[in-house]
Amino acid sequence: MWCTGIAYKGNIFGPEEARKTMETNFAGTRAVCERLERLIPDGGRIVNVCSLAGKLSILRSSELRSRFEAAKSAEEVAALAEEFLQGVASGSYSKEGWPASMYGVSKLCEATYSRVLAEQLKPRGVAVYACCPGYVATDMSSHKGHKTPEQGADTPMWLALDAPASDSGKFYSDRKEQPF
Ligand SMILES: NC(=O)c1ccc[n+]([C@@H]2O[C@H](COP(=O)([O-])OP(=O)(O)OC[C@H]3O[C@@H](n4cnc5c(N)ncnc54)[C@H](OP(=O)(O)O)[C@@H]3O)[C@@H](O)[C@H]2O)c1
Repeated sequence: MWCTGIAYKGNIFGPEEARKTMETNFAGTRAVCERLERLIPDGGRIVNVCSLAGKLSILRSSELRSRFEAAKSAEEVAALAEEFLQGVASGSYSKEGWPASMYGVSKLCEATYSRVLAEQLKPRGVAVYACCPGYVATDMSSHKGHKTPEQGADTPMWLALDAPASDSGKFYSDRKEQPF
């Protein structure tokens, strides 16, 4: 289970912050999964803690949404992530249909990567899930979340131990599949 993530607080938004967010939330997840892939036994499970803040609907461009839906490799997801970062650096991101959410786009990339990885690991029976823990009282939410950390861990733990392996590649919140 991979839970690491960062989110800048308030209105902080800029090229360096966007890159750090993307590196931690998407590239970091990818790096760990690529190392895990070799170690995890057939039939194992990978759970990536993503966020409902990173759903496809945050993209204002239908062309961008289609490209995320069509992504079939980690490289394609990384290229989309880089496009967002370039857009933030040049100031053209909004015109191109990206939202002003570094966290949201990084989590969208993470969840899209989880779906791609699920497809790749299917032949080995390794299940890969993306999920949102809900609004949890942690450092990230400045302890304002209405769920305790134990409650937030419920869906990720359920996915790691009990969820049907046939549902690999899907996105979950509160133990229910969420439209992505
Ligand atoms: N809290 C919420 O309401 C909420 C909602 C939706 C999704 N999520 C997701 O849930 C996951 C857990 O978040 P949380 O609420 O528990 O946040 P948190 O309290 O801020 O914890 C994040 C953890 O990630 C670690 N981390 C950050 N950058 C790292 C790096 N570069 N290398 C290694 N570890 C790093 C932090 O380690 P240090 O303490 O050592 O920095 C910390 O242990 C995240 O993926 C977050 O996006 C949270």
